[in-house]
Amino acid sequence: MNLYKSVEVIDSGKSIIVQRADGSAVRYHSAWLRDNALDPKTRNTINGQRLITLSDIPINTYIESATLDETGKNIFLTFLPEKKKVSFSANWLETHAYDVKQDNIKGWIPKDLKIWGRNMSTNIPTVDYKSASEDKNLLLEWLKSIYCYGFAKMTGGKIESGALIQIANFFGYVRETNYGKWFEVRTEIDAINLAYTNLGIEPHTDNPYRDPVPTIQILYCLENSVRGGDSAVVDGFYAATRLREENSDYFDLLTKYCLRFEFKGDKKTHLKSRRPLIELSSDGELIAIRFNNRSAAPITDVPYDIMEDYYKAYRAFADIINDQTMAVKFKLNPGDCFVLDNTRVLHARTAYSDSGSRWLQGCYADKDGLLSKISTM
Ligand code: FE2
Repeated sequence: MNLYKSVEVIDSGKSIIVQRADGSAVRYHSAWLRDNALDPKTRNTINGQRLITLSDIPINTYIESATLDETGKNIFLTFLPEKKKVSFSANWLETHAYDVKQDNIKGWIPKDLKIWGRNMSTNIPTVDYKSASEDKNLLLEWLKSIYCYGFAKMTGGKIESGALIQIANFFGYVRETNYGKWFEVRTEIDAINLAYTNLGIEPHTDNPYRDPVPTIQILYCLENSVRGGDSAVVDGFYAATRLREENSDYFDLLTKYCLRFEFKGDKKTHLKSRRPLIELSSDGELIAIRFNNRSAAPITDVPYDIMEDYYKAYRAFADIINDQTMAVKFKLNPGDCFVLDNTRVLHARTAYSDSGSRWLQGCYADKDGLLSKISTM
């Protein structure tokens, strides 16, 4: 519970300043307060959608008076020239306070995300299918761990084609692509002909040639009797953080210039995108990693004088991603799956070369659905 000691109009009504119980102060602008008024004419009380546009607010809006009730929990404002009276709770104002020191470094990540390396191998967030289906709290914790770590496992699901859709249903909807609702990752190995050795696949994010890129991926195991063929995941946010700490110039190059990604499938499919390997928001937040050597097109957006350094930076980033201290490895058994944030976590497969079969199915879903589910649960 937030409590205020006093409120005062400053800057000729352009702002207010509020004294907190602990003696600190916080300011809010009149235009901001008027725009965010919570009265039923400004905001729909059911869905919270704003009912006015900026142009409905007088350009010379200002606060004539500001008072605090005796509990210290609510502030009452009068705006002129509208003569509009609006109240805000101290709790609401504190939740949305913006008068704070902004000292974000380039590549910052939200506080509730935790970066990880190989040491998470012994502590992989996991739930079994039956428990997740029956216990809402367990399901919620599991969904939160997908958000927090960008990755989680589920065990004990049904061993039938298409069962991965039920995993997507826990938090959202399948994103259908030209591959269909899901795609097959399947190899039958002929033990006699070892030429068909199944090579490992280095850590990558999926489908960087799509715009927007698929944000959630589910990989679901139906058969796995081969030797090897383990799955591995790498935290791309940790890799980017390491690159920034080891060589900030390299980090800047990979955030500044775009790669192009391209995929030509059948005659009806030609997908292209143009994005950096490490994507930051305009205020420096680390928002996505794209790393997939197989679908990287020729780099044409880096100036001649920079290209040599760009390649060095690209290689340094790849070296970090492939560093053995980065990967969390695990074996999927039939009915097991893992869910990952494809904008953050890279996935890989170790080689397998024995007899047996390995059959996975994969599909995509959307991260906003995951976050919505967490919020509403
Ligand atoms: Fe993949």
